[in-house]
Amino acid sequence: MKDSSRPEAAVSRVGVIGIGVMGSRMAGNLLRAGHTVVVYNRSPKSVEKLVSEGAIDARSPEELARTCRIVILALTDSKAVESIVMGEKGLVHGLSPGSIILDTSTIDPGTAVRLAGTLREQGISFLDAPVSGGPEGAAAGTLTIMVGGDRDAFDRSQEVLSKVGKNIFYLGASGSGQRVKLFNQALVGVEYLGIAEAFLWAKKMGLKIEDLEKIIPISWGDSPVFRHFASVVSSGELKGGSSIKNLNKDLGIILQTAKQDGVQLSMAELARRYASRAVELGYEDLDASTLYRLLDKVRTPVS
Ligand SMILES: NC(=O)c1ccc[n+]([C@@H]2O[C@H](COP(=O)([O-])OP(=O)(O)OC[C@H]3O[C@@H](n4cnc5c(N)ncnc54)[C@H](OP(=O)(O)O)[C@@H]3O)[C@@H](O)[C@H]2O)c1
Repeated sequence: MKDSSRPEAAVSRVGVIGIGVMGSRMAGNLLRAGHTVVVYNRSPKSVEKLVSEGAIDARSPEELARTCRIVILALTDSKAVESIVMGEKGLVHGLSPGSIILDTSTIDPGTAVRLAGTLREQGISFLDAPVSGGPEGAAAGTLTIMVGGDRDAFDRSQEVLSKVGKNIFYLGASGSGQRVKLFNQALVGVEYLGIAEAFLWAKKMGLKIEDLEKIIPISWGDSPVFRHFASVVSSGELKGGSSIKNLNKDLGIILQTAKQDGVQLSMAELARRYASRAVELGYEDLDASTLYRLLDKVRTPVS
């Protein structure tokens, strides 16, 4: 392990795995709050900035796990979480009994329940702790966090969770945090699509984004999604935010979970069709606000 020359702080040590849009910001807040932060990312380049700010770089999840009793995950999907936790050099091989994994990724509730069950047998707590608030909330440390799993582990995680989020909710058994997050994402997906459609219309009417940015946040059409959309569109910064691939993935989990529950979500289905078309067209790494460009391009609704 490449340790930094920084003296060990007298505060708890936290591991962060998945140094993407969300994980990099969470790790930065933990560092600034005085924690010793150990980071791991599949593509090593992403950890360089955090290491220059004092983070310690681990070469594998297993290596990270040998020195941390609390580990935050901020990974794309279930497959990534599964491989980081249970894979060949996964966390499970290094964590000691009593350790806690806080999974802030948005994944399907079934995987969260299964991993929590498997790890419980080894004395390790796996909490589903998905977040909302976007890159802005992650940077400001004001994320909303929805937690499911062992109550005692949740209580022991409070100090760490409070450094990355502001509104932290314990919701009950494993998977219940993910279920509330999916509900939130169903609203977010439909909202992105509605905003994209209305924005294209606004352009045709000759309205200016600067005016909408001033007026909508003090009107009933306001939402954090609209404010994020407006800031992305007016800045022209279309990469590195709330990606279309993540929205597409979330909508996929939502539809699969709703199907298992015997429920049809027609609006979420429509949003999914646009999000997956955007991925097919190569927009996957762009911010979900870019869906308005797709709508403009295809002209007729995706059926
Ligand atoms: N961005 C948002 O606004 C937002 C808000 C709330 C929740 N979320 C959720 O938070 C999670 C992270 O989102 P993000 O925006 O930070 O995504 P991101 O920037 O794309 O980062 C994803 C991270 O997952 C890693 N990863 C992906 N597949 C992997 C695999 N098979 N094995 C190991 N590592 C893997 C990536 O590593 P590489 O660098 O090597 O690719 C990267 O570090 C997602 O579940 C997302 O749905 C995102």
